[in-house]
Order: sequence, then C-alpha cells, then structure tokens
Amino acid sequence: MTDGVDGYHKAFYYSRLWDQVERFGHKCLEHPNDLWIYQELVGRIRPDAIVETGTAFGGTALYLAHLADILGKGHVYSIDNDPQPNLPSHDRVSYITASSTDPSVFATVEEATGGGTALVILDSLPTRDHVLKELLLWSNLVILDSYLIVEDTNINGHPVFTDREVEQGPGPFEATQEFLALDDRFEPDPACEKFLMTLNPDGYLKRVGQRWLPHDYTTPSRTMPATTRNESTAAPAMVTRWRIRGSPGAASPIAACWVARLSQISTSPTVHRCRQVSSTPTAGAPCG
Ligand SMILES: C[S@@+](CC[C@H](N)C(=O)[O-])C[C@H]1O[C@@H](n2cnc3c(N)ncnc32)[C@H](O)[C@@H]1O
Repeated sequence: MTDGVDGYHKAFYYSRLWDQVERFGHKCLEHPNDLWIYQELVGRIRPDAIVETGTAFGGTALYLAHLADILGKGHVYSIDNDPQPNLPSHDRVSYITASSTDPSVFATVEEATGGGTALVILDSLPTRDHVLKELLLWSNLVILDSYLIVEDTNINGHPVFTDREVEQGPGPFEATQEFLALDDRFEPDPACEKFLMTLNPDGYLKRVGQRWLPHDYTTPSRTMPATTRNESTAAPAMVTRWRIRGSPGAASPIAACWVARLSQISTSPTVHRCRQVSSTPTAGAPCG
C-alpha cells in the first residue's frame, strides 16, 4: 500500500499538480485531501482565528474564509513577506506583509484574536531553521484540542525532494521532529492522514498537553485552565527547563535563542482587514 501511495504522491508532486488547485480562480498550493482535512478541523474546532503563514496567491486564505463564512465566525490572518499580486479580497481575511518569524507580527495577531481559539497553518519557507522558529513562535497561539499544522513535511525525502535549491536539505519534517522533542504539548494526529496521501506527513500537530509556563515548573501540582490562553511569552530561563522527550537536556541553539526572543515581544504593527500591511522588523540579533 505504501508503495502505491508514495507513487501517487510522487506523481502528484513532480507533475506540479499542486500548482493547479484553485479556489474561485485563486491558486491554493495544496493537495485536495489536505484542504478537506482543513474543513473537517475548522468544523470541529470552530476557530476564532486561523493563521496561515505563506499566502502566495491567497487561494487557501480565501478557502479558509469561506469556511468561516459557513460557520458564521472566524477571521483569517495570512502572512507573507512577498505575496503574489491580486490577492482575493474578503472581509474575513487580513493579509500581513511581513516575515512569519517576526515576533511583533505574532504579538499583533495574538492581540487581534483576543485569546480565542486559533488554528495555525505553517506554509511559508520550508527550511528546517525557518519552520522551527515558526513552530516555537506560533505554537503559543494554539490552545488545547486545536491544531498546529506544518505543511510540506513531505520534502527532503518524505517521500519527495524539492528542486528549489534554497529549500533542499532538512526541512519542515526535521523541524517538526526537533520541535516535538522539545515540546510535549503537541502530538502528530494520524487521523488527519486518513486519506493516506498528504503533503504534510506527521505535520498535523494536535495540542494535547497543558501549557508550559514558569509557574508550571515551580509549582508542578498546579493545573492551569486549558481553555484560556495567556501564554505567548516565555522567560528565557525556561529554555533549559523544557521537557525533552525521553531524556532531559538543553534546547538546540536556535530553539534557545528563539524562546528567548519571544520574551521581548513588544511592538505591534497594525493589521487591517483585507489590506496588505507591513510590519516593522523586530530589533535584535537574528537567531541562527
Ligand atoms: C508554499 S507558498 C504558500 C502557499 C499558500 N499557503 C497556499 O496554500 O496557497 C510559500 C509562501 O511563503 C512565502 N515566504 C517565504 N519566506 C517567508 C517568510 N520568511 N515569511 C513569510 N512568508 C514567507 C513566500 O513568499 C511564498 O508566497
């Protein structure tokens, strides 16, 4: 069975059929199976906010907005540092022109969501370091039972390889593995891979664990309410206290640097509905 699924996966990927999927005339760079899983998750989670990093042509943002229309609730925040022109316009979509690893963008979206339920889809630059930074940042918006979706975990041999030089080598799959080793709040949900073929193998991460906050560690017996959220920042000192699955240890340098940066979130670019806005880059040395 795996051979057949991988064969179809390779045929779909290498013939660039993902570049021919559309929503109302706007490209969604996805596989239809994954778009179907998205609607299942949106219907189940009923998110107040859906975050998509990597807008490209905006077709997926529009699709997500249409799902929110059906639900009668929810807003899409789609972030891209270099989006395509002529993005679809929709009242439920805010386009943010910025890097998806800019903590000030996270702060802005977090404030806009007002502590509601968020579904996060990471689909920007598919390199390990970039996606790990995104995971460390955006995971903090996802509450219990919601999802943090890592796209393009199929590249670097899982089972396909990209022909884009800058995206070769360790990618989203490897970033996800490192993230999962650091953060036991999330687990891949195999139910999201029930159609066998997905561009995101092991990339549907369900929030299953409680929050991690300094007082969780200093007073471990204290149970925090799972349905409220105020956990976007983390003290740098906490980096080495992250529970490493299997054996205790320190976070990787990128993880350590980024968790430290999250504690510096302060500035907030303005987000305008259905308009493209730019954010001011956050000051400070880049991590990795
Ligand atoms: C695979 S496409 C996104 C596809 C889109 N999510 C969809 O479903 O149609 C990747 C996008 O990520 C954007 N990107 C690359 N690096 C980025 C960064 N550092 N921050 C934000 N977006 C980035 C690119 O400009 C590109 O439009």
